[in-house]
Amino acid sequence: MTQSDQNSSNEQHLALKERKNESYKIFDDIATTYDPLNRFLSLGIDVRWRHRMRKELPQKPNLEILDLATGTADVPLILIKNSNISKIRGLDMSKNMIAIGDQKILKANLEEKITLGIGDGCALPEKDNTWDVTTVSFGIRNFPDYFKGLQEMFRVLKPGGQIMVMEFSLPTNFLIRAIYLFYFRKVLPFIGNIFSGHGDAYSYLNKTVEDFPYGEDFINKMKEAKFIETRAIPLTFGIATLYIGTKPQVVKP
Ligand SMILES: C[S@@+](CC[C@H](N)C(=O)[O-])C[C@H]1O[C@@H](n2cnc3c(N)ncnc32)[C@H](O)[C@@H]1O
Repeated sequence: MTQSDQNSSNEQHLALKERKNESYKIFDDIATTYDPLNRFLSLGIDVRWRHRMRKELPQKPNLEILDLATGTADVPLILIKNSNISKIRGLDMSKNMIAIGDQKILKANLEEKITLGIGDGCALPEKDNTWDVTTVSFGIRNFPDYFKGLQEMFRVLKPGGQIMVMEFSLPTNFLIRAIYLFYFRKVLPFIGNIFSGHGDAYSYLNKTVEDFPYGEDFINKMKEAKFIETRAIPLTFGIATLYIGTKPQVVKP
């Protein structure tokens, strides 16, 4: 990479970081088209990924789960199919995404088990050591400080609790990566921006993917946040990755 490429990459990184402070406002704007566009642009694969998350839940009764950046509650509505779960709390900064999630929960008659509220993933309105599992799907890369998000998830987990982070990543196979990047850089933003009616929501969201750590880099960040037994499960050629870790029973200072 030349010095000028490096400078422009640094500038782009800073511009994206700045915008992440209020990225939830973009979701307020695109909330009504979010679900149908997601299904269409991912060809429904995103639903399969969330089911994979459900399969990786700990095998324990009465699980209480906190889902960050819950959006329109797609994750809670799939996880709740696991009969071990007693309740799920979903938090997000976008009131419009949550309003749609609330309607879906009401329609599914699940308001006793799933509740949603406003909450910042970098400053959780939750007590220490209270949740069995914390989840975040396609949300953490939108946080202004994703490492703070990891630390917050660690703080609110009970000792022995499990973190699950699902996020986009880049396929390792050269050919698949090239095809994927063409779709991701050209096709997806074009369709997304038109159908969401938002000038550049999908261009911005896609840039955040290529700017975000994945694979071993993300696992190292989880370890730095003190998680143990960390692992990464690549999904669909590595287009997305599910990261899992555990909060130790005894936390070293
Ligand atoms: C791509 S959506 C993912 C929604 C959902 N988890 C899913 O899998 O469909 C990202 C969500 O992150 C939320 N978000 C952005 N910044 C946030 C923050 N600091 N704290 C909590 N949620 C945030 C947005 O409002 C948006 O609903």
